[in-house]
Amino acid sequence: MCGIIGFSGKLDAKKVILEGLSTLEYRGYDSCGVCFFDPNGKFNIIKSTGKVSELIPKVDKEETSAVHVGIGHTRWATHGGVLTENAHPHHAGLVSLIHNGIIENYLSLREQFKLTGSLEGGTDTEIVANVLNLIYEKNGHDALLSIQMLTKIIKGTFAFLIMFEDRKEEIYAIKHVSPLVCASSSDGAFIASDITALIPYTKEFSVVEEGMVICAKRDSLVAYDIDTLKKVTLKKEEITWTIDTAKKDGYTHFMLKEIHEQGSSLDNTIRPRIVDGEIDFTNDNIDDEAIRFFKDIEKIQVVACGTALHAGKVGANVYQDVIKIPIDDYIASEYRYNNTLINDKTLVILLSQSGETIDTLASLEKAKEHGAKVISIVNVKGSTIARESDYVIYTHAGPEIAVASTKAYTVQVASIYMLLTYIAYVRNAVDKNFVNNICKNLFASIENIDKALKKEEDIKMIVKNISSSHDAFYIGRGLDYVFSLEGALKLKEISYIHTEAYAAGELKHGTIALIEEKTPVIAVCTQKNISSKLLSNVKEVKARDAYVILIISEDIEYEKDLADIVIKIDKVDDRFSVFPVAVITQLIAYYTAYDKGLDIDKPRNLAKSVTVE
Ligand code: F6R
Repeated sequence: MCGIIGFSGKLDAKKVILEGLSTLEYRGYDSCGVCFFDPNGKFNIIKSTGKVSELIPKVDKEETSAVHVGIGHTRWATHGGVLTENAHPHHAGLVSLIHNGIIENYLSLREQFKLTGSLEGGTDTEIVANVLNLIYEKNGHDALLSIQMLTKIIKGTFAFLIMFEDRKEEIYAIKHVSPLVCASSSDGAFIASDITALIPYTKEFSVVEEGMVICAKRDSLVAYDIDTLKKVTLKKEEITWTIDTAKKDGYTHFMLKEIHEQGSSLDNTIRPRIVDGEIDFTNDNIDDEAIRFFKDIEKIQVVACGTALHAGKVGANVYQDVIKIPIDDYIASEYRYNNTLINDKTLVILLSQSGETIDTLASLEKAKEHGAKVISIVNVKGSTIARESDYVIYTHAGPEIAVASTKAYTVQVASIYMLLTYIAYVRNAVDKNFVNNICKNLFASIENIDKALKKEEDIKMIVKNISSSHDAFYIGRGLDYVFSLEGALKLKEISYIHTEAYAAGELKHGTIALIEEKTPVIAVCTQKNISSKLLSNVKEVKARDAYVILIISEDIEYEKDLADIVIKIDKVDDRFSVFPVAVITQLIAYYTAYDKGLDIDKPRNLAKSVTVE
């Protein structure tokens, strides 16, 4: 969701801010804006609906005196339509600010501060700018005190960067739930919504923590405790991602690059944790206390959103009868409000690429309130979910820039396989042979991903029949149905083709009515025990003239003419077909969207990091 960048220092702030906004485009947005000082020391706020590329010429037209302080924002609309006046920064008197999050009590603040009539647009953020300006004027232009007073009266989630017109070098930052990171170098001080915007400038960053106010200046970056206004220490963390990992490397889109990176990201995830055929989480701080807890748990709950949920579902399905205690999976936005039983013998596993998804974070809080322990599987280092969890397993996939998740999914699956295998082993539910076999198959999956990538040329040829359709179906049984959920999500989110994933045996109970001539039906058939049943369901749709694409393991026999297109994957252990199937279904989605000429990396209405409910 909203991207945030602020800079105060020696460099050209326009360049830092605009490049930062371009880097943050991947988060998904619909308008953008910046604030600098003009040569007279007044705010110069420039905004645009649409892309950063539409904002850049507007900024370039402005007077070009040296600018060394600025803030920039990409907005994903929540309150108020996609209009230039609703884009950030919002300005009132001596205050200009940008915001990620939602201020829930904006209407009562508007009443309390008698703001009706003085507002331009319809956003909660504009009200906050006005309120802060009034407080600042009333309190002798004391920035820290005014920000402290503001945080006492606003309710909701926020990450704010604030400039004051009479404080030329300073940028202030506060946050509640919505993430912010900061860094300083010999070039100056930086604050951003995530570390991708900082990669070009620094190797170290600090997470802005709850209850901190940050003041960024040309030669200092200082954190204060919001209650006492005394200085506090910022903890430093290393940025392991490199500038190259955030570049397209000659690929047409980040999504295609990330699909291709899956072999190496899987390697990065598993290699540090597999030692002599056994799983070793010592470096992830899974300590004796954790092991004692694993032995004692009565149930496991897997909670996540979207693609991360699908990865969790794969793990929950595969290990249900291995660990021999209930493993249930939950949509985070439901889990946070439902009445599921959670207690101190519950292990909650959260999966999140960004580590910031608000519903997953709220589920974490709920689980802890009920006494459960939480392990999160997260990609972004230092993210909120990672920090709040009892234990964290980082997936080490590198930055995932395309909005549609690909490499994060496969490493999440590998991570939950390793974690559940480890738990099964310490509970004596499986022996060393089982563990060795899982490890061997995980390593073999690296090669299987690469083999699946070799189907790319074939897939390019078959997407025409999908891209011309309004609707499509994925069908499967057992694990193949779970893989289908992810295949369908990928196809719909980037190609805008309405795609349903269906448990194949359930089709005839209503939904088969939608199958007509040429309706694309992608059938996934890798689970040998149930393949004959699935193939019968394929016959049923073929009899209704569907256009059938069959993704099938090479060792499963099928009748000739059953499908229009057959994509074979190499014979692998049933539990590990998830990896090649993921690659094939991702490529189908990618090339279908490509054929339609769509904005693949930034699909409409979507955001990479979903920080609102
Ligand atoms: C789809 C996709 C989303 C995310 C979901 C959770 O391609 O990327 O469905 O998986 O928004 O995001 P994280 O994993 O960041 O919690």
